[in-house]
Amino acid sequence: MENFEFYTPTKVYFGKDMHRQVGEIVKSYGYLKVMIHYGSGSVKRTGLLDEVTSSLDKSGVEYVLFGGVQPNPTLALARKGMEICEKESVEMILAVGGGSVIDSAKCIADGVGNPGKDVWKFFTKEDAPAKALPVGTILTLAASGSEMSASCVITNEEGGFKRGFNSPTHRPLFSILNPELTYTVNKFQTGCGTVDIMMHTLERYFTVSRNVDLTDRLAEGLLKSVISAGRIADQKPEDYEARATLMWAGSLSHNDLTGAGRNVFMAVHQMEHELSGMYPRIAHGAGLSALFCSWARFVCPYAAERFAQYAVRVWNCEMNFEDPMKTALAGIDATEEYFRSLGMPTSLRELGITDEKFGEMAEKCTFFGERTLPDFIDLDAPEIETIYRMAY
Ligand code: NZQ
Ligand code: ZN
Repeated sequence: MENFEFYTPTKVYFGKDMHRQVGEIVKSYGYLKVMIHYGSGSVKRTGLLDEVTSSLDKSGVEYVLFGGVQPNPTLALARKGMEICEKESVEMILAVGGGSVIDSAKCIADGVGNPGKDVWKFFTKEDAPAKALPVGTILTLAASGSEMSASCVITNEEGGFKRGFNSPTHRPLFSILNPELTYTVNKFQTGCGTVDIMMHTLERYFTVSRNVDLTDRLAEGLLKSVISAGRIADQKPEDYEARATLMWAGSLSHNDLTGAGRNVFMAVHQMEHELSGMYPRIAHGAGLSALFCSWARFVCPYAAERFAQYAVRVWNCEMNFEDPMKTALAGIDATEEYFRSLGMPTSLRELGITDEKFGEMAEKCTFFGERTLPDFIDLDAPEIETIYRMAY
């Protein structure tokens, strides 16, 4: 087990009707003016925005509204949000939505907390935020884990760069998780969310650190629960227990619990960010679904036993002691079959793109030669391009 720090300060309010208390929750932290940040309209259609504003009104908390976040949120919109916060003397940001809304809120919070600094330099790691406005969330989609994570992912449309960085400033102050708010998430986004939740744990699981048995078992347990809940939510969108399992798993999968004691890099996420950075209409979970199994087949020969353990413990595959590689590949096949059963793409072709940008995406993924993607073997641009082509 590697040395690690574990810091997950976000207070979670979980369960039915919890969002109705948001006014009192905000006030309990001493904030009296918030910016409500939201997406392209789902919170209006479902009536959630009215419920939130009415709770804030009742508690005497003032607010300004700022919507319009698109999936794969942009730097340009976040910059507008920073101006509003400064002009309106906003004390905290309340993000009501999925990962895109929450990440946009985190980026705005970084900008407001560090006046005079270019927030994009935080994403290119030339600078780091010293502080940030507090962010609270009301989550409407179980997927990204941004409601508890230290990460924030933003696309700079100039050049199509999608970049993320981790900072303690990104841990939300609180997150309100009411699984009922996810009943309206459609089949496709539910599938994307299920894949993303699994991937946050899988990318921690498939790393080289040894002797991390407790973390392994937590990861395997989480994966089994998510696989089962994902199947149910796909068929019965209003199944509370399945939605609740996905929601809580989404938070635990990316709050670092399932990676404790492991060195984590998340290579497939890096490859996916190039994909949805280049093609912003591609949903993050769909990109991961199209890439994961090709990455896994590429690196599997260097970690056959680890993949075999996953196959046996998560998918109940039979262990072939003479040839663990056979078991390992059976686990990858089972994962692929599962993603397909949720209607998720398992090839890049299904995302409606051509193969002409794979070389460029691979170069960008190595930050033009400044890094490789580790885990089992170091992937440089040629190997990354090979994986994109395998996934096509
Ligand atoms: O914009 P609205 O109208 O709200 O619609 C959204 C959007 O179209 C819709 N939706 C959300 N909640 C809904 C709903 N529709 C009906 N009912 C509801 N209750 O779903 C669509 C997708 O939303 P989005 O927020 O984009 O999805 P997700 O939560 O998957 O977030 C994806 C973003 O998070 C980043 C991804 O790269 C991507 O940009 N990630 C952030 C991470 C982090 N900060 O820790 C980690 C992840 O690995 C990921 O990279
Ligand atoms: Zn993800």
